[in-house]
Amino acid sequence: MDQIRIRGGRPLEGSIRISGAKNAALPLMTASLLTGETLTLTNLPFLADITTLVQLLMQHGVHVAMRGEGAGGGHVMELSAAAITSTEAPYDLVRKMRASVLVLGPLVARCGEARVSLPGGCAIGTRPVDLHLKGLEALGAGIELAGGYIHAKAPKGLSGGHYVFPFVSVGATENLLMAASLAKGETTLVNAAREPEVVDLANCLVAMGAKIEGIGTDTITVQGVDALGAAEHRVVPDRIETGTFAMAAAATGGALELVGARLDIVASVAEALDAAGVDIAETKNGIRVSRRNGLRGVDVMTEPYPGFPTDMQAQVMALMSVAEGASMITETIFENRFMHVPELARMGANINVHNASAMVRGVARLTGAPVMATDLRASVSLVIAGLAAEGETVINRVYHIDRGYERIEEKLKGCGAEIERIGS
Ligand code: UD1
Repeated sequence: MDQIRIRGGRPLEGSIRISGAKNAALPLMTASLLTGETLTLTNLPFLADITTLVQLLMQHGVHVAMRGEGAGGGHVMELSAAAITSTEAPYDLVRKMRASVLVLGPLVARCGEARVSLPGGCAIGTRPVDLHLKGLEALGAGIELAGGYIHAKAPKGLSGGHYVFPFVSVGATENLLMAASLAKGETTLVNAAREPEVVDLANCLVAMGAKIEGIGTDTITVQGVDALGAAEHRVVPDRIETGTFAMAAAATGGALELVGARLDIVASVAEALDAAGVDIAETKNGIRVSRRNGLRGVDVMTEPYPGFPTDMQAQVMALMSVAEGASMITETIFENRFMHVPELARMGANINVHNASAMVRGVARLTGAPVMATDLRASVSLVIAGLAAEGETVINRVYHIDRGYERIEEKLKGCGAEIERIGS
């Protein structure tokens, strides 16, 4: 298994191109199941999770063609689901990635049935899919669970419905948006997720011919149409990659331009950085982040968008580990998302966890150590800590990082980091 070795202590200086968002790309790819015509996605990141979903979509009969770089970088993918040859998403593919459950809504909407493996447990909490299923029931689908599979049926097609989410779910909102686009009549989704990736999906569906109102608000209304058609859509820049590199610049006392990044979709992260004493501003090409002075501890609580993202919680904790003073970091989205704490502690961080909150008392410096990546965002927090630490850090199980960060060593090396991948 590959490892990443970092010699820390060098400020990051230069520019990094921000890739298209993984969490937007995955639902956008599954939207291709809704039409027999070709969906072209540009600015797509090339990541392990994208490859996993390509395998699943091909298994449903989707033709996928990946072209090299498009204008402004990023990959171009053409997806054509002229005929769906299988409505079953098998366990072997679904278990690799929870987002696979996003094929459920499109398949049942287009084919009147789908059999999708339950995604199962996940390192960061139990993460059930009950809201996806209840929402589909509200659109008239019959749902049965048997043998570890979800069997959804709507032999006469889905019909519009009213669904109130008891709490915000990004994936369930996306699944229902796609399903409602092809349902008969009007669907209203209340307390829907407002994440930029949901907005990106909705905009793409509109380009395909869907009728959606309230995009970006918590009440979305969809008028179902008989069929969707071809479209070309550019994937929104990755706000989590943006925030991650911003934290890395701040932690190392460097200055980075994040090319292609959008400040408007990282406002809560920018606010936390600003309060910590980091300069962050819009430029012609993206965002510039720099820190010349000391870092101050700030309190952070994760919330659905536009609040502080749970996918940035581990990274801000790495940053707060080297800030002056204390920082209380509270996780409200997932119940078990502090696995990075013992690893950061191995590098000298002073962190105490009480239930859903972690009290971080900043230390003057972290020291390099061998550490273990446990999930995607936890692992990248160790990269940030390693870049800021004195001495050598070796991160094991880096396949987690490859699920969500495109060419991370290359991007960081280009800005002066001493980082390398060691193959096993
Ligand atoms: C998406 C993101 C993930 C991010 C998360 C929250 C993708 C591919 N992944 O995941 O990176 O961390 O949003 O911003 O976009 N829940 C239920 N029942 C359900 C659905 C969710 O109880 O049916 C719970 C989850 O366990 C979690 C919370 O709701 O505690 C939010 O989850 P959700 O927004 O659905 O996350 P995902 O869409 O899986």
